[in-house]
Amino acid sequence: MDKIGLFYAPAGGSVEKVARMIKDRLGDRVDLILIDEKTSAEDIEKYKNIIFGISTVGTETWAMESPGNHWAKFMPELEKVNHQGKTYAIYGLGDHLAYANHFVDAMGVLGKELLRQGASIVGQVPVVDYEFDQSEAVIDDHFIGLPLDEDYESEKTPERLNQWLDRILKEFS
Ligand SMILES: Cc1cc2nc3c(=O)[nH]c(=O)nc-3n(C[C@H](O)[C@H](O)[C@H](O)COP(=O)(O)O)c2cc1C
Repeated sequence: MDKIGLFYAPAGGSVEKVARMIKDRLGDRVDLILIDEKTSAEDIEKYKNIIFGISTVGTETWAMESPGNHWAKFMPELEKVNHQGKTYAIYGLGDHLAYANHFVDAMGVLGKELLRQGASIVGQVPVVDYEFDQSEAVIDDHFIGLPLDEDYESEKTPERLNQWLDRILKEFS
C-alpha cells in the first residue's frame, strides 16, 4: 500500500488529537500534514491515499470568515488536484448534543465538494450508530466519513476509529 497523507486542521484540538491516534496506530505508513496557509494542491498530489481531518466550528470552518481558518483557504486548492487514482477518507469532529442540528456539517461540505469534483471517497458510516437531528454530512442514511465527538462521547472514539481504519485500509491502494 502506498503511504497515506493525513491532512488536518486546526492544530491543538480534537482534530489533531485524532490525527496523532491514527499516527500511533499506523506509524510510518502515514504522514501527518498540518494544513497551514502554504498547503497546496501540490502537497496532495504526492499521495494516492489521503485522509482529511476537519472539525465544525460554525460556518467559519469553510466560509472564509476568519483569517486564521486554514481549511477555508485550503478548500479551493482541491479543485486543482487530479483526483484520478486517488482514494479519500474523511473524519470529522463535532458535538452531537449542543450542535445536534449541524452535527459535523463541515465534513459534509468538504465531502460533497470532493464528490462534485469526481473524487472517490471511502469509509462511509451508517447514521444508526449516532444520536443527532440533522447533518450536512449525511447522504442516503450514511455519513460521508467518520464522525467523532470528543466533547461528549470521547469514550467511543478509540473503537470507532479502529473499526473505521480497518475498513479504509482495505480500500486504500
Ligand atoms: C464556536 C463553536 C461552534 C461549533 N459548531 C459546531 C457545529 O456546528 N457542529 C458540530 O458538530 N460541532 C460544533 N462545534 C463543536 C466542535 O466541532 C468540537 O468541539 C470539535 O471537537 C472541535 O475540534 P477542534 O478543537 O480540533 O477544532 C462547535 C464548537 C465551537 C467552539
